[in-house]
Amino acid sequence: MLRLGALLSVASLLSPGTAAPSAPSWKFVEKGNSGIVGLEAIVVSPTHVVMFDRATNDPLRTPDGKVAWGALWNLETNKATPLKLLTDSFCASGALLSNGTMVSVGGNIPASQDVPQTGARDGRMGLRLFGPCLDPNAEGPGCTIFEDLDNLQLAETRWYTSTARIFDGSLLIVGGIHESTPFYNNDSVSSFEFFPKKDGGVPRPSAFLERSLPVNLFPRVFALPDGKVFMLANNQTIIYDVEAKTETILPDLPNGQRVSNPFDGTAAMLPLSPPLFEPEVLACGGSTKSDLTPQEELSAQDPATSQCARITLTPAGIKKGWVVEHMPQGRMMPEMILLPNGQIMIINGGATGYAAVASIGVTFGNSNAANPIGTPLLYTPSAPLGARMSSQGLPTTDIPRMYHSTVTLTPQGNLLLAGNNPNGNVTIVPPGQPGFSSELRVQTLDPPFMNSARPAITNAPSKVAFNQRFTVGVDLPAGTAPSSVKVGFMDLGFSSHAFHSSQRLVFADFVMSPNGRTLTVTSPPNNRVFPPGPSFLFVTTGQTWSEGAQIMLGSGANPPVPDQGIRLPGL
Ligand SMILES: *[C@@H]1O[C@H](CO)[C@@H](O)[C@H](O)[C@H]1NC(C)=O
Ligand SMILES: *[C@@H]1O[C@H](CO)[C@@H](O)[C@H](O)[C@H]1NC(C)=O
Ligand SMILES: *[C@@H]1O[C@H](CO)[C@@H](O)[C@H](O)[C@H]1NC(C)=O
Ligand SMILES: *[C@@H]1O[C@H](CO)[C@@H](O)[C@H](O)[C@H]1NC(C)=O
Repeated sequence: MLRLGALLSVASLLSPGTAAPSAPSWKFVEKGNSGIVGLEAIVVSPTHVVMFDRATNDPLRTPDGKVAWGALWNLETNKATPLKLLTDSFCASGALLSNGTMVSVGGNIPASQDVPQTGARDGRMGLRLFGPCLDPNAEGPGCTIFEDLDNLQLAETRWYTSTARIFDGSLLIVGGIHESTPFYNNDSVSSFEFFPKKDGGVPRPSAFLERSLPVNLFPRVFALPDGKVFMLANNQTIIYDVEAKTETILPDLPNGQRVSNPFDGTAAMLPLSPPLFEPEVLACGGSTKSDLTPQEELSAQDPATSQCARITLTPAGIKKGWVVEHMPQGRMMPEMILLPNGQIMIINGGATGYAAVASIGVTFGNSNAANPIGTPLLYTPSAPLGARMSSQGLPTTDIPRMYHSTVTLTPQGNLLLAGNNPNGNVTIVPPGQPGFSSELRVQTLDPPFMNSARPAITNAPSKVAFNQRFTVGVDLPAGTAPSSVKVGFMDLGFSSHAFHSSQRLVFADFVMSPNGRTLTVTSPPNNRVFPPGPSFLFVTTGQTWSEGAQIMLGSGANPPVPDQGIRLPGL
């Protein structure tokens, strides 16, 4: 961890009189090769990210000489090591459970020509467990993928399904398609199920998932601070009450905007703040094309929508409905990453087309989308409407991050980017030809202060109960006023198909000690405001944040766990 004091003393050794460097800004940095296409990505520890691809012809090999389609990315050494999987994780989703175990959910039937080199099996009912892996070198118990095809399977075959960790620390699994579709969902799994199983393992049918066909793959799903779940698929929305098993219909996205696969816009729940933790959801990009358009009539050059729509999920906010604003350009397959200071980075994707591979009337090579957007966009939720978005000071990358690419905030506080592969397998597209090569280059997008003095957490507990006061040692710039400090608990989420599921930022109340070296922080009030499980605590001063300290919120017990902490007023 970078200590502020150490950096200041290095800085003071620099000779005076050297020209003042221009103010640092965000920058992209290439970080090595992921060995597999990083089509899905999730931070699983302070130092490691699990990535998954399709079981095809990735260059990385498992120790038995087979093609790998899972990898463990080391954030310190920038190296990938293979993970041995049994089943094909293609177009799966996943999350962390209350006990810190990562679960990869659903997948695909491996292509028959690939099975000799991969040995992969049908992954559509797949549940792949990893960790918690406590060894920083990622060796030993918990640091491998565990699959049990006899005892650990979904109730339904699910490809393109979504997941969210809910209030009892288990996963809600939403929708999907039974098997291969070239584009639209025409074989819907219109039901919810859970891991670990509820209702004796019988899936719950969903009218919402029927109504939102055929553009409802990878529904955008959010665990709300009262324990209910907000869902967005196509242009349709509901609040699902997991306990009462009821769906309440909310207003459609306005102006024909559709944000789930294969018209991939994205959505995020904005940071939650005490004392009320009022949830707001922001949906950006995707397409306003009619969902009745035959796929042969779609083109990779069709413009994506620039619309973002935002709603406050309180009775008054729902009555007011969606409030519309616009990005400077349309975006297909963007992803939204919450930053520790409460801003949101809108990143990846292109200006035109749709998601999926070679399945519409006019493609660009194998790609259903074109015109990559290399410049991210920062969204400031608290700024006035019309003044929230800016790319000022943000760099541009020439590495396309289109279909099957990922991005995640890391515990180090920068963004990690991987993947891009709108092809059926690992394919190099010759220069000058239409389409996009499979991408193995990993990048970070570093904030301006990545290599300079920044706040640091010097000491934090590894586990905290809900609604508890606890102390955190900090190293902050001299004279930092408490009013310029923010403390937030984050779930860094799971990146798959332009959606960052289970991502969350919950700000916390705190008191700073007179000498500025200790913060007494109050943890989230209960397991609904922050579903129990692993979090990273970040401290921000001004616009500069620390590295994250991993803290288990709640008991760390296996799901389902009972309610903990105090109820919010009015709930
Ligand atoms: C890769 O895809 C191409 C085109 O679909 C196919 O001909 C080839 O067999 C595939 N190779 C592997 C190793 O899967
Ligand atoms: C879905 O559409 C594809 C392509 O049109 C077709 O091959 C497949 O049979 C359809 N599936 C179902 C269940 O109708
Ligand atoms: C949402 O999409 C459906 C199906 O295409 C359409 O009938 C409905 O009018 C749309 N809602 C809005 C508000 O545009
Ligand atoms: C975490 O909980 C899940 C669900 O009960 C279980 O399958 C898994 O083994 C647990 N992980 C550990 C490390 O005990």
